[in-house]
Amino acid sequence: MTDGVEQSLSAAVEALNRARRVAVLSGAGVSAESGIPTFRAADGLWEGHRIEDVATPIGFQRDPRLVWKFYNARRANARSVKPNPGHLALVAMERHWVGRFAIATQNVDGLHQTAGSRTVYEVHGSLRRTRCTRCGEIRDRGLDPLPDLPQCEGCGAMLRPDIVWFHESLPEDVWWNAQQAAAECDVLLVVGTSAVVYPAASLIPIAQQTRDPGATVIECNLTRTDASQMVDIGLYGPSGIILPTLCQRLGIEVP
Ligand code: APR
Repeated sequence: MTDGVEQSLSAAVEALNRARRVAVLSGAGVSAESGIPTFRAADGLWEGHRIEDVATPIGFQRDPRLVWKFYNARRANARSVKPNPGHLALVAMERHWVGRFAIATQNVDGLHQTAGSRTVYEVHGSLRRTRCTRCGEIRDRGLDPLPDLPQCEGCGAMLRPDIVWFHESLPEDVWWNAQQAAAECDVLLVVGTSAVVYPAASLIPIAQQTRDPGATVIECNLTRTDASQMVDIGLYGPSGIILPTLCQRLGIEVP
């Protein structure tokens, strides 16, 4: 380990040791080591698909079959994978800061919950859930395959994935909880996100600016990102290694 990395790690451990409340903003990178593709990598989901076609309300209106094909493939992928050591380290951290730890995730794969995390705010929705385009009913369908163009059992209208698409608002209550967690925390861990999608990325300034002094923001990512200039500490490498290393240094046992 180089001196710079060791210094950042020590600073992160010091901040976490002092923290009474910890919040996490996670993104696709935390699930990458489980085998779920990220969005903006060279071989990521947005290289193979046009956002307008598969992740906007207009795209769904135009070609619901294509959108369902995309989400059914993502559901099948999510069904076939397991949480990785990064997810498990976050479970161990929650047990350490019991009742004072929350994850706001942009991920829709449910892997934080499968790993055992309890306080998880899914700000971009969930692959497991459908929402009726007419009556609005939301249902958890698990990850088993769905029929082609699934319909609402109640009103017969077409179902859509309960995912927040581009040009749509975040679910109000979930987003309120996520902002609250960011506003109240002493450390915000920003894990595996390019931090380019708003409002999710605004949890960083919310954590830094709501109170005085603001939270210490620690970025864990393979590489530097748009958020790197804003954060206090950067830990660069795979989250499946960095997060367990942090736990080990903090004396937190990972299951
Ligand atoms: N460990 C840590 N970070 C990683 C790893 C890893 N093993 N692998 C990849 N990363 C990082 C990448 O360096 C990148 O910064 O994860 C980040 C993934 O970025 P994106 O693909 O942009 O994913 P995310 O930030 O979650 O995207 C936000 O965009 O399209 C939408 O709704 C979608 O929720 C998603 C949102």
